[in-house]
Amino acid sequence: MRVRKAVLPAAGLGTRFLPATKASPKEMLPVVDKPMIQYVVEEAKQAGMEQIIIVTGRGKRAIEDHFDTSYELEDILEKKGDEELLQEIKRISNLVTFCYVRQKEALGLGHAILCARDMIGDEPFAVLLGDMIIDSHKPALSQVLETYYRYKGPVIAVEEVEASEVTHYGVIRPEGLGNGVYKVLDLVEKPSPEDAPSNLAIMGRYVLTPDIFDTLEDTEPGRSGEIQLTDALKNLLAHRPLYAYLIEGKLYDAGSKLGFLKATVELALKNRELGGDFRDYLKGLQL
Ligand code: UTP
Repeated sequence: MRVRKAVLPAAGLGTRFLPATKASPKEMLPVVDKPMIQYVVEEAKQAGMEQIIIVTGRGKRAIEDHFDTSYELEDILEKKGDEELLQEIKRISNLVTFCYVRQKEALGLGHAILCARDMIGDEPFAVLLGDMIIDSHKPALSQVLETYYRYKGPVIAVEEVEASEVTHYGVIRPEGLGNGVYKVLDLVEKPSPEDAPSNLAIMGRYVLTPDIFDTLEDTEPGRSGEIQLTDALKNLLAHRPLYAYLIEGKLYDAGSKLGFLKATVELALKNRELGGDFRDYLKGLQL
C-alpha cells in the first residue's frame, strides 16, 4: 500500500533550547531564512506525501499560522508589487494538505504519534521529527520509503555516530542486509558506550505500519513518565521484522543548541543568495 500521509510530532517542550523556547515553538526557530519545520515539510512533500498531520501542543499556534494563508500579508505584498516574495508566501501555504491534532500533555514521542491515530486510520505512514533537518541529495524520507517498499515492513532511519555520542540516542543491534539496509535485532534507548550494541543511532525518520498504534497503546511509560516510540518498536519486534536504513546525507539535530548552530552555519554557506558573503565574513573573523 502506498504511503501518502506523514506525521510531524512538534508538541515537545524544547527544554534543551530554553530560554528561546519559553514562549516560541522551537520548530519555528529560523535556520538561515525559514523555520526549521519548513525544511521537514518540504522533505515530506518531495518524498510524495500528500497529507501532513502536525502534532502540536500549547504555545504552538505559530506553526499553524505559518502554513496557513495570510490574506493581509498577501494583500500588502500585492499592493507593493513584490511579486517574488508574494509567490514565496503563497507557496508555503500551498505545499500540501495540513491537518493538526493537539497533544494535551507532552507525554512522549510515542504518545504524540498515538494522537494521530484517527487521522491515519489503517494505512502505513511516515514520521518525521520536526527538529531534525537532513540535507541530502535524495530526500531522506524517500531513502527510507524505498527500503519500506522493498522489504515490506516498518523502517527506521539510522546514522553512524561517535561511540561517545550513543548515550543521546536510541541505538539498534543490526544484522547487515547490504546496501545500507539492516534487519533490527534489538533497540536500546540511550545506552552507555560500553553497553551499546552498535554505533547506529535512530535519527528522526520512520515509515511505520498501523499495527504500531496497538503496540503504543500497550507500551508502558518509561522512566521519565513518557511513552517512548523506541520502546514500542522494541515490543513490535516480537511480532514482525523491523528494518533500518543508513541515511545518505548530513543530519542536524536542530533541537539542540549546538546542532542548531551547525545547521545554521553550514546551510548558510550553501545558500545561493548569502553563501558567498557569509563565507568571506567567516574567513575574516579573527578566531
Ligand atoms: P525531543 O525530545 O527532541 O523534543 O523529541 P523535546 O521534548 O521538545 O525536546 P527537549 O528534549 O525537551 O529539548 C523529539 C520530537 O518529538 C516531539 C518533539 O516536538 C520533537 O519534534 N515530541 C516529543 C512531541 O511531539 N511530544 C512529546 O511529548 C515529546
